[in-house]
Amino acid sequence: MATSNMVRAANRDVLARLRTLKIVPVIVIDDPKDAVPLATALIEGGLSCAEITFRTAGARDALRQIAAQHPSMLAGAGTVLTPRQAAEAVDAGAQFIVAPGFNPAVVDYCLEHEIPVYPGICTPTEIEMALGKGLETVKFFPAEPIGGLPYLKAIAAPYGSIAFMPTGGINPANLPNYLGFRKVVACGGSWMAPADWIAAKQFGRIRAETEKAVALVRDAPVAGESRGATA
Ligand code: 3PG
Repeated sequence: MATSNMVRAANRDVLARLRTLKIVPVIVIDDPKDAVPLATALIEGGLSCAEITFRTAGARDALRQIAAQHPSMLAGAGTVLTPRQAAEAVDAGAQFIVAPGFNPAVVDYCLEHEIPVYPGICTPTEIEMALGKGLETVKFFPAEPIGGLPYLKAIAAPYGSIAFMPTGGINPANLPNYLGFRKVVACGGSWMAPADWIAAKQFGRIRAETEKAVALVRDAPVAGESRGATA
């Protein structure tokens, strides 16, 4: 297994980009033919990043096309439920792996292969499982249904170092508050590119909504300054 230091090095570049972008568009795409126009819309809107969820038959091919046509984009795979899917995603060009839950088999595979991995957590027990694997950043999912920012602050409080990517129910209204919490690296969300907009090929609409999201990030409070940020 790779050492923690090696994995940290592999994570550093991806994390730095996530911290700069502050939003990870979460993409559900059926038709791989939509992948490149979608990625172009996100890039033109100012977000050169996408998490392609592996919950559609076309996801793998979509990721492959994005990686080939937009190699500078930070493209990852989401909804990765098995080590095999992780391997397929990386083969298709994924630069990071996201999962809805904490699956030790997926996490171990990624650590062994030095692939940045952000498993989903929503309890202190799961945070400790992540810490036990040497992970420094996890997805907080499903952020809003489980209790939102107050709940995240409560479960994060005992743990000094771990950082979070809240995802699930994030929208333009609640995004700035999440980004104001210093333990939040970036937020994931589908609001700027929902599946039905992609299927309807509304790429101009996606670009416009992405531009608005980027403007929100620009105007968001500096981390640690949001109301009630206590940890
Ligand atoms: C997901 O995995 O679908 C993400 O959590 C996206 O959630 P959202 O559609 O609420 O942004």
